[in-house]
Amino acid sequence: MIITCPKCARKHKVNPEALKPFSDAGKTNIMASCKSCKFKFPVALSSLLTSEEEPIEMNRRAGSVARKICITLSKGGVGKTTTSVNLGAGLALAGYKVLLVDTDTQGQSSYILGKRPGAGLTELLTKELTISDCLIEARKNLWLLSGGKSLAGVKRIIDKKSFGAEFTLSEALSPLDNQFDFILIDTAPGWDQLIVNVLFYSTEVLVPVALEVMPLHGMSEFIKSLGAIQKYKSEIQLKYIVPTFLDLRIKGPKVLYDQLKKLYPRQLCKPIRYNENLADAPSFGKTIFEFAPGSTASEDYRSLVRRVSRNESALLK
Ligand SMILES: Nc1ncnc2c1ncn2[C@@H]1O[C@H](COP(=O)(O)OP(=O)(O)O)[C@@H](O)[C@H]1O
Ligand SMILES: [Mg+2]
Repeated sequence: MIITCPKCARKHKVNPEALKPFSDAGKTNIMASCKSCKFKFPVALSSLLTSEEEPIEMNRRAGSVARKICITLSKGGVGKTTTSVNLGAGLALAGYKVLLVDTDTQGQSSYILGKRPGAGLTELLTKELTISDCLIEARKNLWLLSGGKSLAGVKRIIDKKSFGAEFTLSEALSPLDNQFDFILIDTAPGWDQLIVNVLFYSTEVLVPVALEVMPLHGMSEFIKSLGAIQKYKSEIQLKYIVPTFLDLRIKGPKVLYDQLKKLYPRQLCKPIRYNENLADAPSFGKTIFEFAPGSTASEDYRSLVRRVSRNESALLK
């Protein structure tokens, strides 16, 4: 059941069993209170929608907690960083407030965004600087907590902790919970203490799967590791599987795509096609929307923005 606030137009999903109806002038009403703008208003029960659809999330809702989505797979070169940056940039263009956290020692995110931040995640985790000193606004609505070589030292600090090591990142980032709509976390390939930290912090997982070679092998390995984390953190869910490097001129990728569709029908997203603009854009310090807005890659990432934001009208031309 969905109720729309007459003041701020936000849609809210309501559990019908929790409603306390009252009668007024022959009508049965309920008193509703908007979680976003706190406006209180009566609603006639007969006028309520019964749609099962999720409420549309348009822009930042005051006081709401950010969705924390990590982009991860142990294999390198599958499009993790490309997806983190372009999904983040697309959500920001759609009006959401986004933080991109780069947990890779390669520090590629800042390079792709054409930035050279003086500080980033390392200084935050070592408590050398405050959060506001570590963040940079890379684009309108898009903030960056950059990674880089210095994170290697941080990993050693985490390894030496005698307890609670897996919550190091969660503790450092917790003040940002109410500041953003989306917090996207890009990860390095492999499996180490920092990735375990990312999984303990995130609530949703997005896995890019390159449709070039052996994607299913990497996936099943990763799903086993995720299962190990879920024993301790049940909220974390594999939400999105994004096939990347789709080249329909070759037969192999289509077969792999169909296999993924059978195995993960709920999580599978529309593929990101192979497109050279994605490989060229970083050397210009540009996102795909800036470098080649009319390209198939831009179209594919706009579609991913709609899927992740559950906002069907986001970034429609
Ligand atoms: N759909 C695509 N088409 C063509 N090149 C791509 C595509 N996605 C990513 N790339 C390029 O492939 C390389 C690896 O991608 P990257 O995002 O860095 O992977 P990862 O972060 O998983 O290691 C980069 O040079 C990137 O620009
Ligand atoms: Mg990367």
